[in-house]
Amino acid sequence: MNGISIGLLGLGTVGTGVIKIVEGHQEELMHQVGCPVTVGKVLVRSLDKKRDVEIDENKLTENPEEVIDNPNIDVVIEVMGGVKEAKAYIVRSLQNKKHVVTANKDLMALHGAELLKIAQENGCDLYYEASVAGGIPIIRSLSEGLASDRITKMMGIVNGTTNFILTKMSKQGSSYEDVLKEAQELGFAEADPTSDVEGLDAARKMAILATLGFSMNVKLEDVVVRGITTITQEDLHYCDQLGYTMKLIGLAHRSDGRVEVSVQPTLLPTEHPLAAVNDEFNAVYVYGEAVGETMFYGPGAGSLPTATAIVSDLVTVMKNMRLGVTGRNVIAPLYHKELKTDEE
Ligand code: NAP
Ligand code: HSE
Repeated sequence: MNGISIGLLGLGTVGTGVIKIVEGHQEELMHQVGCPVTVGKVLVRSLDKKRDVEIDENKLTENPEEVIDNPNIDVVIEVMGGVKEAKAYIVRSLQNKKHVVTANKDLMALHGAELLKIAQENGCDLYYEASVAGGIPIIRSLSEGLASDRITKMMGIVNGTTNFILTKMSKQGSSYEDVLKEAQELGFAEADPTSDVEGLDAARKMAILATLGFSMNVKLEDVVVRGITTITQEDLHYCDQLGYTMKLIGLAHRSDGRVEVSVQPTLLPTEHPLAAVNDEFNAVYVYGEAVGETMFYGPGAGSLPTATAIVSDLVTVMKNMRLGVTGRNVIAPLYHKELKTDEE
């Protein structure tokens, strides 16, 4: 390979981070994959918007075809969000034999199985590490590092925005509205922050984790969800006085052939390790029958942490390209139609 050209769908918080890492870490990328990575075309909604990263204006386009149908682009990175258009662009990219990396948990939680199948049918890679817990490599850990174990439980904080809000409300007495605004300005929140504060973003991530960890198709509608919109400063103050910390906890549990997945505000004893996970940080406990307890901790949202996961996926794709094994190393079992549930 003489070089790899990437196309981006989106240049917001995450896309900007991707450009910064790709351009700032050329030496590391060269060391990993032995060839330079260049940015070919970048889809944006508006060419007139001021960008937080230096980029040749000729590389920007409002026409998705200049990315997804572009014969010079090898890998498409989807960081635009949303479901309908993102799905259509990813499918077209895969059909055009382009590998895809995405940060889109809405899309992967709803259509991951279908998309992974299309990727495989087209001999392409589709990786989605950034879709859960930002910079923490939890998807790789479940599907590779812990693949031999029988996972029985996963529990954690998987939404940075709500953790940021709860932390600032309880520790600094900030108002819900002010902190939500701050989380939006810092780029942690979704374009529509309702999905963060109502717990839906965390539910999508827990559905992806449970599907991977338990090797069964856990659907979004199976996740019990409650968000943080009704939590007041007074609630948090009382929790503190009683020796508890409130966190939005995602829980996925299997026992006796049953799987339960939920996201809800939960009181943790102040000395509990998850009670000390503050601001936009995430943490996930994974319990495996053989390994016992493992904990993954790190930044769960934000431009560079999330972009790190994406560019690392890109490195994996490039290594697969070099070895000629693209489309084979699919992060299973998300796509297996024949997967059995424990009840079967
Ligand atoms: P964002 O800041 O809102 O950026 C979205 C980008 O996509 C913008 O550049 C926008 O163009 C472009 N875009 C959106 N819809 C488009 C359309 N229909 N046609 C053309 N361009 C379009 O979003 P983000 O925070 O970077 O998030 C992107 C994705 O990463 C989402 O799936 C999100 O869930 C996921 N994610 C985000 C984070 C995080 O911390 N922010 C972490 C993990 C995963 P303009 O700039 O011209 O408006
Ligand atoms: N809005 C998400 C969060 C971004 O706050 O966790 C990272 O997925």
